[in-house]
Amino acid sequence: MKQAFIISLLAGAAFVCSRCGNDAVAVNNMKDLDENMLDMMTYHDNLGRYIKQGDADYALWLLNGMDSSLQVIAQKFTAHRKLTDPFSTSYKKMLRPSIKGMRGALQQNNFEEAKANYRLLTKKCNGCHIDHDVDENVVDWSSNDSYK
Ligand code: HEC
Repeated sequence: MKQAFIISLLAGAAFVCSRCGNDAVAVNNMKDLDENMLDMMTYHDNLGRYIKQGDADYALWLLNGMDSSLQVIAQKFTAHRKLTDPFSTSYKKMLRPSIKGMRGALQQNNFEEAKANYRLLTKKCNGCHIDHDVDENVVDWSSNDSYK
């Protein structure tokens, strides 16, 4: 599973590099919202799997990677044709509480609490998609019902 994550990161990097020749793009994060969202999905899904496996160190590493990317997204998307509010507003209200809760729980190896916060985060991802008529269902990978 680690390999799958690294491969998807490499694929993302290759994709960014394939656009390096485009000198119209000057900001650090050159991706549009949908591409950033695909990265969030990779982090989110792997995070759930590692929480389920009880690997606090790796789950924390993924969580911190996801959180720092979300903060970059929040800085960049102050407005977007598909968003009604700046992303930072939704990040603070919808995502940050469960991210903080998950971080605290993982630091104490409290996996029940980490799973509860992961489930809440998943609901918030989906809540924002419903609010914006986005047909994308984010799956809870920490539950025993999920396979793979
Ligand atoms: C602020 C609202 C908001 C939040 C919070 C949010 N999303 Fe999204 N998401 C969107 C919007 C809007 C789109 C459609 C983007 C587009 O089509 O340009 C989207 C699209 C997606 C897509 C489809 C991308 C594609 O190209 O097919 C995925 C996957 C996704 N989100 C995952 C997530 C995950 C995982 C989370 C939680 C960590 C999350 N989203 C949280 C608003 C949000």
